Amino acid sequence: MFDIPRILSDTPVRRIEYHAELPSTNDFALQQLRTEDVGELPMLVLADRQTRGRGRGENRWWSSEGALTFSLILPLDPSQLPPDRRPLLALAAGLAVRDALEDFVPSAALRLKWPNDVYLSDRKVCGILIELPARPSDVCVVGIGVNVTNSFDVAPPEVRGRAISVAEHSPAVCDLTVVLIRILQQFDRALHSLGHDPGKVVERWQSCCMLTSRQVCLQTETQRTVGRCEGIDAAGRLILRTERGLQPFSSGTVELMPSPAG
Ligand code: BTN
Repeated sequence: MFDIPRILSDTPVRRIEYHAELPSTNDFALQQLRTEDVGELPMLVLADRQTRGRGRGENRWWSSEGALTFSLILPLDPSQLPPDRRPLLALAAGLAVRDALEDFVPSAALRLKWPNDVYLSDRKVCGILIELPARPSDVCVVGIGVNVTNSFDVAPPEVRGRAISVAEHSPAVCDLTVVLIRILQQFDRALHSLGHDPGKVVERWQSCCMLTSRQVCLQTETQRTVGRCEGIDAAGRLILRTERGLQPFSSGTVELMPSPAG
């Protein structure tokens, strides 16, 4: 189903683990890091199907054949990505997927929802889960799920109402290998920018933010905050204008508030 030699030749990926089915590519990558010498990186874990895909927090990630589900094991080299810029990695990953999908759907329809969801015509087309293993401490796992040609006919209702695939929006044939290569190339570019000019990544991310100037609700483990989204700051934190003034948030789940009726 995937053209493995082409992925290796056209992207910075050095090793690929390709499986028809895995519970979760992130779990496989984390297990690999626990039990084996990491070897050459970046390494790509790729599956045609996931049976227990994980999302952020306690969420599940539902996918079916035709979706891209993969995880990248990336080296975290402090000379290329200083530790204080690591929080921007999540934003750079979302931006990279957004930019890659511009080749297949109109650019204006693609927006970002903090921290790293990609939306297509107001529905979620991509989710990203970044995990840092305890050991080794100098790598991270970037798990990416993109709805490319999959249908949501048999998806749970809550997914069907909120998700979209690239093919549903623009029905020209999308080859999964081509989309994957484009994403890996854009991610490499974004990582390079993050090392050299993080302000540019923040500025570009900001220009695609779907929440700016809108009333949102942000839920953290301990509190719920309502405010108007003012975009992100240089550290990638979400800025809300609340009753108490401007407040930055570095974690949490954000949702748009329903517009007032009438
Ligand atoms: C989210 O939006 O909550 C994040 C979803 C991340 C899904 C991807 S699919 C590949 C990788 N493996 C997983 O189990 N999850 C990520």
